Amino acid sequence: MPDTPSYGNSPQSATESPHQLKPPKVIVADGRADFRTLMVRLIRGWDYEVLECADGIAASELLAARTSPCIALIDWLLPDCDGLCLCRKVQDDGKPLVYAIIVTSRTARSDLLENLDAGANAFLKMPFDTLELRTHLAVGTRLIAYQQRLEERNEEMRRFASNMEELASARADQLVHAERMVTIGTLTAGITHEINNAMGVISTNAQLLAHLWPRAQTWLSRHAADDPQAGMLANEMPPAIESIRKGVVRVTNIVKGLREFSRASSDQPRICSVNEVVEETLGLAMGATKRLTRVDLQLDARNPKAAAVQQQLVQVVLNLVVNACHAMEGQPESVLVLRTGIEGSHVMLRVEDTGPGIPDADLGKIWDAFFTTKECGKGTGLGLAISRELVQRMGGSIFATNRDEGGACFVISLPQANGEPGT
Ligand SMILES: Nc1ncnc2c1ncn2[C@@H]1O[C@H](COP(=O)(O)OP(=O)(O)OP(=O)(O)O)[C@@H](O)[C@H]1O
Ligand SMILES: [Mg+2]
Repeated sequence: MPDTPSYGNSPQSATESPHQLKPPKVIVADGRADFRTLMVRLIRGWDYEVLECADGIAASELLAARTSPCIALIDWLLPDCDGLCLCRKVQDDGKPLVYAIIVTSRTARSDLLENLDAGANAFLKMPFDTLELRTHLAVGTRLIAYQQRLEERNEEMRRFASNMEELASARADQLVHAERMVTIGTLTAGITHEINNAMGVISTNAQLLAHLWPRAQTWLSRHAADDPQAGMLANEMPPAIESIRKGVVRVTNIVKGLREFSRASSDQPRICSVNEVVEETLGLAMGATKRLTRVDLQLDARNPKAAAVQQQLVQVVLNLVVNACHAMEGQPESVLVLRTGIEGSHVMLRVEDTGPGIPDADLGKIWDAFFTTKECGKGTGLGLAISRELVQRMGGSIFATNRDEGGACFVISLPQANGEPGT
C-alpha cells in the first residue's frame, strides 16, 4: 500500500545546519511523480544538488555511476528494484558511500531490521515531517564528511608509511655503507701495518742504494769505454733510484692517510685559534700556493676559537687548500680565499677558489673514500673523506657548494669555544 505524504510545517532550523559542510548529492528515487517533485523542490531549497528517478532500474544506474558519496532517498516500494534490493546492491559494490534513507509507512520491527541489515542507514516515516527529513539529510551530510576526512587521513597515513619505507630503506643502505666502512677500517689497519713493514725494507734498501750509488757510478764510468752496458747503467740508475724514493714517499703518505681514516682518535681536543690554524696551513702549503695569482686572507679580528685537535684541523684545511690549488692549475687568474668568522654559536672557516667548481653530479660523491677526478698518481681520493671524518669527530660539519661567480667553496663549521688556546 502506497505511503501517503504529509508535508507538515517547513522547519525554521534543523538540528544541525548542513550548510556548514559541502552538501553531497541527493538522489530521490520514487515512483510517485507528485511526491517526487515536491521532495526535489524542498531539498533543492536547502541547497542540495538533487537527481531524481522514478524506478529501481534508473536508480541502480544513477547509483552505479556515482564517483563521490551521496545520499539516496528511496521509496521502499520503488518499482523494478525496491529499497531493500537497492540497498543490497550498493552495500558491497566498493564505490563511495551511499547514505540510504528508506521512505516508508511501515513500522514492523522485522521489516526495519531487514532493511538495516541490507544497508539502509535511516528511515523517513510517512507521513513525513520536513524537519525530520532535513535532519536526516544533515546527519547523512555529516557522516559523509567524516568518512571523507577519514579517507584523507588514510591517504596521509599511506603517504607517511610510504615515506617511512623509503627512509628506512635509505637508512638501511647507510647502515650497510657504515658497516662496510668499519670493515674497510679493520682491514685497512691490518693491511697498512703489513705495507708499512714492507715499505720499511724497501725504503732502507733504497737509501742504501742511494748512499752506495756514487761509488758504483765511479766504477761504472771507468768501465764505460769497454762495456756499453756499464755506461747505460750509469745513466739510468739515478732516475730509477729517485723514482723508487718518490714511490716510497707516496705509498707512505697513502698508508698514513688510510690509518688516519680508520683510526678512532685518541688525541684530546684543545681550544685552538682558527686564524692560527689557517696561518699554519698556509705555511705548510707554500709550495702549492706560490703559483696562485693571489691568496686573499680574511681572518676574523675576534679570533674565533674552537675545541679541536689542531694538527687534524690543519690537515683538513691543508687538503682543502691543496685541492683548490689543483683545481685552479693552469688558469691565468687563480685566487684562493681563506675566511674565518663567527655565525651564531659556531666558528666558520671557508676555503674558496676561482676554479671550475665541482660538477653537480659529483657534489655528493666527493666525500666518498677513493673518489678522485685527478689523474693517476696525483690524488688518492681520501682527502675529503678523512676531512669529514675528522671534522665530525670534532663535533662540527663540513660541506661544499659552488659559488655563483664560479669556483668551489668549502665550509667548515665548528662549535665555538671560549677560553685560552691550548687549554
Ligand atoms: N676546490 C675544488 N674544486 C673542484 N673540485 C674539487 C675541489 N676540491 C675537491 N674536488 C674534487 O673532489 C675530489 C676528491 O677530493 P679529495 O681531496 O677527497 O681527493 P683528491 O684531492 O682527489 O686526492 P687526495 O686528497 O687523497 O690526494 C677531487 O678529486 C676533485 O674532483
Ligand atoms: Mg685532496
